[in-house]
Amino acid sequence: MNPPLDPPNAALRISRRGESLGTENAFVVLAEVNGLVRQGRDIVSFCIGQPDFPTPSNIQDAGIAAIRGGKHGYTPSAGIDELRAAAASGMPVLRWLPQIAGDAAAFGVDLVAAVARAAPSLSWRQTYSAQELGLAFLDNYGWSEIFGDSGPLASERVACGFLILGPATHYPRHRHEAEEMYLPLSGTAAWQQGDAVWRHRPPGKLIHHASFEPHAMRTGASPLLALYLWRSANLAQKARLDDVAGRRQD
Ligand SMILES: [Fe+2]
Repeated sequence: MNPPLDPPNAALRISRRGESLGTENAFVVLAEVNGLVRQGRDIVSFCIGQPDFPTPSNIQDAGIAAIRGGKHGYTPSAGIDELRAAAASGMPVLRWLPQIAGDAAAFGVDLVAAVARAAPSLSWRQTYSAQELGLAFLDNYGWSEIFGDSGPLASERVACGFLILGPATHYPRHRHEAEEMYLPLSGTAAWQQGDAVWRHRPPGKLIHHASFEPHAMRTGASPLLALYLWRSANLAQKARLDDVAGRRQD
């Protein structure tokens, strides 16, 4: 049985910590400013970030269109895909493009040069967050899909694109349901499959990862540009990182 409810006129008890809380001063200042404005004083108010100009009409229109377009709920925690793609177009890892394009040992020099030329206008993305792998990794990591479930060319079961890793970067051990192939185009990185020893794979050396096979890679002095292929019925899946903290010591 539930305990009886307190009568509505019972004294409300607040904890001592609760009673020690003060007032939000911004609202106190705002009230004073509004009072002076009502008295006719000419005041430029910077209170609580309120601008003194109306929202521009193009932003009003975009807001109305978004509401009428059904955008009422929460957005994905990581951000809207289109916004993430736009933000990624200036991704830090692209600073390695000149070094990638200048690699005399590249596999398919013309292809590498074409990718380097086109890269600034491609949409670059990142699978992981700073919380997962740190800012240093994100400054040296990015991929761009050419075809797949999110690339400019639609494909439901096979995705293809390019990965860039900056120098001295460790892409930790991870696995995914999708079968994966990499073709390094520029830069020699060390690769590990399962618990096998790390092997250096030069440009042109094809690498295959079976479904759910754990794998990792790390670059040396040169950045890596690699073409990747993913094959799966679920291209939207996210790779699962293994024990990152432990594997960073590999
Ligand atoms: Fe992978």
